[in-house]
Amino acid sequence: MRVVIQENYDKMCKWAANYIAAKINAHPADKPFVLGLPTGSSPIGVYRELARMNHAGEVSFANVVTFNMDEYLGLPREHDQSYWYFMHDNFFNHLVDMKPENINILNGMCEDPEAECAAYEAKIASYGGIDLFMGGIGVDGHLAFNEPFTSLTSRTGVRVLTSDTRIVNGRFFGNDPEKVPAKALSVGIATVTDSKEVLILINGHNKARALAASVEGGVSQKWTCSALQMHPAAIIACDEPACGELTVDTYKYFLDIEKAERL
Ligand code: GLP
Repeated sequence: MRVVIQENYDKMCKWAANYIAAKINAHPADKPFVLGLPTGSSPIGVYRELARMNHAGEVSFANVVTFNMDEYLGLPREHDQSYWYFMHDNFFNHLVDMKPENINILNGMCEDPEAECAAYEAKIASYGGIDLFMGGIGVDGHLAFNEPFTSLTSRTGVRVLTSDTRIVNGRFFGNDPEKVPAKALSVGIATVTDSKEVLILINGHNKARALAASVEGGVSQKWTCSALQMHPAAIIACDEPACGELTVDTYKYFLDIEKAERL
């Protein structure tokens, strides 16, 4: 696992956007680049930078197919807190050449959630899997909506949100956790770790415990993001405040490794 430590949020986002753009640009033109995407406040700066690069002609999304991580169950697309709305508002509407038919987001209003999730997995498989899955994590280390104690072998399915997550996400629902949907559709941990590459953004002091658990703790269902340790090409991009709970040795080790990467 690589841990790329950047001084602040802006630098973390620029690093991640450059990394993703370089991967898209290096991809063979005869097949689409399949990109997994998250919502949340963490990726907003990455989306802004990728949109800037797209406008500047530095990266094209014409040959990119996207799959989003998750969606609230019971929220229609037009709801301003649906992840469909978020993705269009914060990213897709700002790209010059993203094809709407290449955007995949779980439908929170589907009649049959099990069938919706099975079809999502099948569609990912039809592209030969995801090339790069970008993600964020919750303060309890949840990856997508895979709350603590979700199986590390899980696939796309219905998830029950914990009270903690509903309290944290209540900030988007008039500070009322009760208004946060109780369930969501979410890719599984194995859906993410099956991707050829995984890039997780972890920023801010409130994620410090989760970062330490992901990197220094054992692989455990308690911190579902710790499954990244079993992935052959996982990268965590983080900022300095998120490093607060790492040991000094760990922190220095990853700085050394990244310095060597650049040589
Ligand atoms: C939600 C999403 C997660 C996201 C998390 C963190 O719970 N389901 O995919 O990673 O929020 O969001 P933020 O980046 O705002 O801290």
